[in-house]
Amino acid sequence: MQEFNTQKSLKSHLSSSELKTRTIGFVPTMGALHQGHMALVKRSVEENEVTVVSIFVNPTQFNNKNDLEKYPRDLAKDKELLSGISNSILLFTPSVKEIYADDVASKFYNFDGMDQVMEGKYRKDHFAGVATIVEKLLTLVMPTKAYFGEKDFQQLQIIKKLVHTKKIPVQIVGCPIVREPNGLAMSSRNQRLSKSTRKEAGFIYQILLGANEQFGTKNAISIAEWATAQFKNRLEFELEYFEIAESDTLKKLIDRQKNIKYRAFVAVYADGVRLIDNIALN
Ligand code: PAJ
Repeated sequence: MQEFNTQKSLKSHLSSSELKTRTIGFVPTMGALHQGHMALVKRSVEENEVTVVSIFVNPTQFNNKNDLEKYPRDLAKDKELLSGISNSILLFTPSVKEIYADDVASKFYNFDGMDQVMEGKYRKDHFAGVATIVEKLLTLVMPTKAYFGEKDFQQLQIIKKLVHTKKIPVQIVGCPIVREPNGLAMSSRNQRLSKSTRKEAGFIYQILLGANEQFGTKNAISIAEWATAQFKNRLEFELEYFEIAESDTLKKLIDRQKNIKYRAFVAVYADGVRLIDNIALN
């Protein structure tokens, strides 16, 4: 595995005659890699001749300084995991200065309100930060395909919109959520949970499964009321939102239509750690 710390060195490697004509898969991450990330990397390695993985804890997408400082980092372990997958991986690990120089700020984007609901409502300017870094990285790597997890489903939809409006020639591939054995969606932040909370947090997925079961017979408001009541009974979890929305537009479900796909989305605090999850409803 080759590692690059500067945009210039990565760019010149990717434009060398040896790589210029190859298909490139790209997996952007913030590190502290787990099997959810690795599923994206494996898929990229299967589908492309070269895979670029970036590890960069992007400051502009954190609305909370404490969350940024406490974000888990373990580059040595990340490298070990990646080198176990393939030696065709190119690892990009830039510094904040390398990416932003002296201007650590987000650009302005219009995502037709998709960035204002759910995560966007509770994490102000989060998606402007995500879009800023993803646009920079896609423009640098110019991949054939870029891989994103459905774990961050709202992020995935916003990235699809970003590449469409900015006409970035890349195929965005959404990948299924990888879960721990108890159903908890894998996340770098899970490391910050106590052992017992991590075990109990399978409850979040149970609520999503329950919502899916009820989706055939109950309306969205009753399901949300039911989910909220379930969380009220569990003092270790503090529910931030539970919402049923259209999968494509992320608009809150008000009047259910036959040919539209919906998902349930949830954000919960446990041990002071913010956890998100979602499920397709059918
Ligand atoms: P990060 O949280 O490190 O996630 C990197 C990618 O892994 C994202 O596309 C995310 O959806 C995916 N992922 C994380 N956990 C997953 C799981 N349990 N199952 C499937 N996929 C999972 O998301 C980010 O970083 C950043 O916002 C980033 C896009 C890198 C921009 O900074």
